[in-house]
Parts: sequence; C-alpha cells; structure tokens
Amino acid sequence: MTSLAQQIARHQHRLAILAHHYQADAIVEHAHFVGDSLELARQVTELAAEHIVFCGVHFMAESAAILARPEQKVHAPVLQAGCVMANMAPAPLVEAVLARLTRSGARVIPLTYVNSSAAIKAVVGRAGGAVCTSANAQRMLQWALEQGDCVLFLPDANLGANTARAIGLPQTSIERLDICAGGLHVPAAQADVRVYLWPGCCAVHHKIRLEDIQAVRAKFPQARILVHPECRPEVVAAADGAGSTSYLIREAAQTPAGSTLAIGTEDNLVARLARRHPEVRILPVRRVLCSNMAKTDVHALTAKLQELDTAQPVRVDAATAAAARLALERMLTACAPPNR
Ligand code: 13P
Ligand code: SF4
Repeated sequence: MTSLAQQIARHQHRLAILAHHYQADAIVEHAHFVGDSLELARQVTELAAEHIVFCGVHFMAESAAILARPEQKVHAPVLQAGCVMANMAPAPLVEAVLARLTRSGARVIPLTYVNSSAAIKAVVGRAGGAVCTSANAQRMLQWALEQGDCVLFLPDANLGANTARAIGLPQTSIERLDICAGGLHVPAAQADVRVYLWPGCCAVHHKIRLEDIQAVRAKFPQARILVHPECRPEVVAAADGAGSTSYLIREAAQTPAGSTLAIGTEDNLVARLARRHPEVRILPVRRVLCSNMAKTDVHALTAKLQELDTAQPVRVDAATAAAARLALERMLTACAPPNR
C-alpha cells in the first residue's frame, strides 16, 4: 500500500479531508479542515471537491452527505464508526413519543442534537424542528421555543438540561421523559413544561463525575475547569465554564502562561491542547476516550483513498435526505454568521 501522503497527493485536486477535533493527531495532521460539528457542517456547504472524506463518526458523514451537492461523494473511512448517543433515539420511538406529546393539541417543536441519525433529523424536519450542535444549542433552543409551545430536545438529556439552564429556564419547566415502556408513560404536553428531554447521553462525557471536578479542585485550587456540555448537569454546574470543542480550544489558546487549565472532554483533544500549549499546565478532568472516533486510523484512511473511485459513498435515501436537510438548513439559517 502506498503511503497516506502519496494517496492524498494522487487525488489532491478533487479531494477534501474533514476531521473532527476528537480524531487522533495522525489523522488531524493530514486533514484539509479540522473543526467542531457546526464548523464542519458549514464547511461542507462551501466545498467544491468531488470527494469529501469525513473522519469522525457516522452521523457526521451522513450530515455531510445530506448537505453536499448531488454530484459530490461523501466517504467515511470506517462505516462501523457509530455514535452511542445517536443510537439512543430510534426514529419510530421518537415519532411515537412526539405523537403522545402532541395529543393535547400543543405545538411541540423537536430540536435534535446533530449527534443523531439522518432518520431522526428527517422526523424533526417534517415536524417543523431543527438541528443544533453544542456550539449553538442556546441560540437554537431559544429559536425552537419561539416556534411553538414547548420543545422536545433529543437525544442528549445532559446537553438539553445544561442548555435550558443556561438560557434561564426554571428547573420546574424541564422534564426528563420516561421512554422505558416504549414511550407509553409519556403524557400529553403540559402547559408548565417548556422542554422535554429525551433520556439519552454521550457514554464518554457521562463518565466524568462531580467527584472528578472536586478532586481537581482539591489538588489544583488555582485551576480553571472547563467542560463540554455533554457532561452531567452537576459537572457543568461545578465547572468554571462549558462549551463546544471549539470553545475549549479558544479558551486554551487564551489561557495565560503559567496557569493550570483542567478540561473535561475526549482525551485526544485534551492531549493535543496540552502539547500545543506547553506554557500552560493542561490536564484532563478525567481521561475519557471515544472508541468510535478512534476507529478511524491511518490505515483505514489510506485504504479508503486507495479505492476512492470504486468505494460506496455514504448514501441517505432521497426522501429522508430532503426532510433532514430542512432541519439542518433551519439551523444554518438561524445561526448564519452576521457577515454572510
Ligand atoms: P462538538 O464538536 O460540536 O463540540 O461535538 C462533540 C461531539 O461529541 C462530537 O461527537
Ligand atoms: Fe458520540 Fe460521545 Fe463519541 Fe461524540 S464523544 S461521537 S457524542 S459517543
């Protein structure tokens, strides 16, 4: 097999490699664009390349395939790189729960985190809802609340609870759904509830506990602690700040030399920031790894580039893609940068 660099050079005029911040350095150093979920979705809409190779997890490649032009092909180096959280919201169950919530005649706007399948984005798009990412969740939750009586936030209950709290909603107006019996316990929407939370979570960020924050505070009393909003609400409440991977990267870059910064997110990113900013003591709140992000390695990326012209691109059927695109475009429109 020829080297990764040779394969990239071979396709250079018709190839764009995109990588999420949680990818390993060996992938990131070869990517044309590295970003958080929102930046990468925006990037796709601006690319001219015939082949887009998405190094991340499956829902990201699916979103790219939905946003790309019909003549572009989106590839995932490892098709089995899924996301545990995205799998926690099966489309038929979400449809059933939405139907139960709307029995009272309430207008329930679904807002799905981008970490969800194309089928979920399509359900949301058809129901007048939108997608959000961790970078724009507050803006999009405000948007969704303006469209209807209440919001069904899915699939991440932690991000939903943290975002609802950040925009000032009282705890009494936020309700976590019980979907254990196939949604049968879900009541019709009540007037005093503004946000219903789908009870999913990121298996990686959920491992970070309040005790981890307390241990960092005890050992490094001067440390600033920043976490990703997929962490538990009590972890976010005890930290000094929370935000998307891009927020964490910006904050690390602005931290004065000699300071200590503890970061609660996926280990590839924390370790990269520690290497990038040796003047700051950067440490993980707790070491957590996303095994799905780790499935994309140099070998898999090289193999995909080698077979680029014959490989099956990621495909989403036309009806699902059209409805899911509605939900993604509502987000891109609501969060368009002001100078565009
Ligand atoms: P962001 O890059 O949007 O912060 O996403 C985190 C994540 O978990 C992606 O899977
Ligand atoms: Fe999914 Fe969590 Fe991994 Fe992100 S870090 S891909 S949300 S399991």
